Amino acid sequence: MELIKVKDYEELSVKAAKIISGEIAEKKTLTIALPSGSTPVGMFHELVNAVNSKKTTFKNVKAFLLDEYCDIKYNKEQSIKYFVNYHLFSQINIEEENIFTIKTDEDDLNKVCNDYNKLLEENPIDIQVLGIGANGHIGFNEPNGSFDLETHISKLAFKTRLDNQRFFNSINEVPSYAVTMGIKSILKAKHIILLISGAAKADALKRLLTLEVSEEFPASCLINHPNVTVIVDESACSGLK
Ligand code: GLP
Repeated sequence: MELIKVKDYEELSVKAAKIISGEIAEKKTLTIALPSGSTPVGMFHELVNAVNSKKTTFKNVKAFLLDEYCDIKYNKEQSIKYFVNYHLFSQINIEEENIFTIKTDEDDLNKVCNDYNKLLEENPIDIQVLGIGANGHIGFNEPNGSFDLETHISKLAFKTRLDNQRFFNSINEVPSYAVTMGIKSILKAKHIILLISGAAKADALKRLLTLEVSEEFPASCLINHPNVTVIVDESACSGLK
């Protein structure tokens, strides 16, 4: 794992966007998988600026979403598709057919998972961007879930629902289930970029740097991947000596 320490959230966002733009420039076509949450929003905005100033282009980029809530009718404002579309897709030159979302509005979720796995097989991920939950979850892979799963239905930990409550009117509205790319899918990416920002994630960063690989702490699966870049800001480092 390469650890890049930056001063603050702004620098973290700039750095992440630069790495992505750099890889887009290097390869003719690129497939990226993206998370939601507050952490990547600054990076999304940097990418929008880079597209607007012609420093990068998403013309030949395919984008997969890392996860999606269940029980949210597609395109509703709390869906992850809506969130990433609002902050990124609607503002860049990505082709509509190159956006891959997890269609949890469909009835047969097992089929939805299988279809997504097939698409991921046909389109290997070059860059997987991740945030991290305070409990170490990545995507919606919660503590003590199996590391041997591809896209699957996941029951959300209460802590995750509490942390994500801010995107909803109340805790009761936060779905209890989501469909997420599994750890097995995530680890297939050629390059993984993990973003960790803020004091609320200090304990998660400390655990990532001190723990062994364990299903108790899902992000620890990244330890043995050959190409992981972890970008952290000073406040996330506040728990380190
Ligand atoms: C959600 C997402 C994760 C994200 C996490 C942290 O649970 N499923 O992909 O990393 O939240 O979000 P934030 O960046 O808002 O702290």
